[in-house]
Amino acid sequence: MQNGSPFTPASTLAQPIAHLFVVVGMVMIAILLLVTALVLYASFRYRYRPGAREPHQEFGRRGLEIAWTVAPLILLVYIFTITVHAMHRADPEVSQNRLPDMLIVGHQWWWEARYLDSHVLAANEIHIPTGKLFLVRLESADVIHDWWVPQLGRKMDAVPGHPNLFWLEADAPGTYLGTCAEYCGAEHAWMRIRVIAEPQVAFEGWTAQQLAIPSTAAMSADAKDGEKLFQKLTCSNCHSVSGFTQDTGVGPNLTHIAGRETLAAGVRTNTPENLAKWLANPQAVKPESHMPNFQLTNEQVRYLTAYLETLQ
Ligand code: CUA
Repeated sequence: MQNGSPFTPASTLAQPIAHLFVVVGMVMIAILLLVTALVLYASFRYRYRPGAREPHQEFGRRGLEIAWTVAPLILLVYIFTITVHAMHRADPEVSQNRLPDMLIVGHQWWWEARYLDSHVLAANEIHIPTGKLFLVRLESADVIHDWWVPQLGRKMDAVPGHPNLFWLEADAPGTYLGTCAEYCGAEHAWMRIRVIAEPQVAFEGWTAQQLAIPSTAAMSADAKDGEKLFQKLTCSNCHSVSGFTQDTGVGPNLTHIAGRETLAAGVRTNTPENLAKWLANPQAVKPESHMPNFQLTNEQVRYLTAYLETLQ
């Protein structure tokens, strides 16, 4: 279930796109084969032979010309019709008073997700309930990005100053992979998306868990030192941890960072070792990332890692 292939649609919004692609692809292959066969036939049949006379020359033949004008016309009208039909199915109209369920903001180089009902803040890993059309308002914090999770539907540009609405829906539970599909700078390749679709009950459980403030009661001494460093080193100017620091919207919200599968929008799997490497030198893990190298000591990295690992 974990792939990003447009040929295995997992949404009523993606099916018409995959179907259209296959139909138009087959038409194109048929035309390619026909033209190739005719060119090969003519090249062989009328090839140069010593002493042979020039083949019979003919100017214009009305029947043939009508045929090769009308046949492509019919084909194009057919493709136009099925395309318009697929566009309507892949992108149902949004009624005037329908409010978005979620705000997604493209940043260089990660995705911010804000659930407008529950106020859950997430990054890069986006949970949705299965079988429900989720309306997303897509924005950009800097340059043009492009949201694309091929199994779940159409692409949508994230344009600065021009919010776009699109529907997100998954028929079956699973993790659906996507990425930014508009070149947006050095780390364009590492703006990966994971959409985790789960049944309504599981989604509500996830929402409740995200809203809970991580308990600091059972923190180790290292983690407590890390929590102090988190503020002292100004981490909280960009990253917020609910119940502890203000929401900034600059860098990814870290309230439940330990519960995520990947780090830095998909660059590494989320393990304590990788988190420590990231903190020690983010530029070595994701060059040009806006996370600066704080020249942390090994000890500071250990404390901060211990702290962030408590944020389940
Ligand atoms: Cu964001 Cu490419």
